[in-house]
Amino acid sequence: MKKILSLGLALLMVLAMAGAAMAEGKIGVAMPTQSLQRWNQDGANMKAQLEAAGYEVELTYSDNDVARQVNDIENMLTAGCEVLVIASIDGSSLGTVLETAKAMDVPVIAYDRLITDTDAVDYYATFDNYMVGVIQGTYIVDALGLADGAGPFNLEIVGGSPDDTNAGYFLAGAMDQLTPYIENGQLVVPSGQTTLAEVGTMSWKTETAQARFENIITAYYSTGATLDAVLCSNDSTAMGVINALTAAGFEEFPIITGQDCDKPNMQYIVSGIQSMSVFKDTRTLAEKVVGMVDALMKGAEPEINDTKTYDNGVKVVPSYLCVPVFANAENYKELLIDSGYYVEVNGEFITPDEV
Ligand code: BGC
Repeated sequence: MKKILSLGLALLMVLAMAGAAMAEGKIGVAMPTQSLQRWNQDGANMKAQLEAAGYEVELTYSDNDVARQVNDIENMLTAGCEVLVIASIDGSSLGTVLETAKAMDVPVIAYDRLITDTDAVDYYATFDNYMVGVIQGTYIVDALGLADGAGPFNLEIVGGSPDDTNAGYFLAGAMDQLTPYIENGQLVVPSGQTTLAEVGTMSWKTETAQARFENIITAYYSTGATLDAVLCSNDSTAMGVINALTAAGFEEFPIITGQDCDKPNMQYIVSGIQSMSVFKDTRTLAEKVVGMVDALMKGAEPEINDTKTYDNGVKVVPSYLCVPVFANAENYKELLIDSGYYVEVNGEFITPDEV
């Protein structure tokens, strides 16, 4: 009898401990699109890590359609989500639905992209976006030997989506490195296009970047001018530039920058067509955001490390900035393969779940 009682007590204690460790509640995770590789990884990482912490997850992708994302978020609120994690499509279009979240006391974390023009966003977690641009711009400065006075060289610029606040930070970080050399004539931009309004690529689409770059090649590089470098904001736009150069018969490729270490771009980096990318380990970002969610669910303060950079037009949003890392053919094995981010099979890059 005594034995049965103590067994029962032990069982109760195990159950109580499990109850204390496993969190409960529903979390909404809104991602912008499945058409660009990184968001699939972000969504999958978030879902897996939140579920491992004991939460239920409503994960949506909105096909880069703003109205659909608003609708997805409304459904999350109706379904009883207690915290919202949102990677916005257009950072300025969520004000109304987020007012509803605020009225329902549902905290909102902006994921990777800042949500602007509203006070109904509580936290922001991202990679240091300005630093991404600094890494790209510094790479071009070093690769061309600009600090040693080399030049003049021809440069063109392909920016990100004008409705994504990150695009402005990426461009600013890079242009702060390059502008002194444009001003002193070591860098020349034959198209003259340097502002986000001129170089932007709506929705970061490869085809849009390609079409614009085909026009640039025809207008400025079809009569013998050398194209020395292309500042591309990310890998999907770099892919558009590579496609345009290939279609125009280029055999020698200029310096081409990128961001995200997308699978097909990694192949181009290994084969020397694309020069570099910026690795943003989506596992780390997910881990940080899951920590924030967990803190909010438990009534604690989420960890932040920046309280001044991200002014969304209404407030400065307390942020956690993860560190982006330079990646190229020399260090990708250590960064991407040894860390288990990708597996390299016969020269192709795949995620471990695809093995
Ligand atoms: C992200 C980049 C990504 C781009 C396109 C940006 O908001 O920060 O990593 O390349 O969106 O998906």
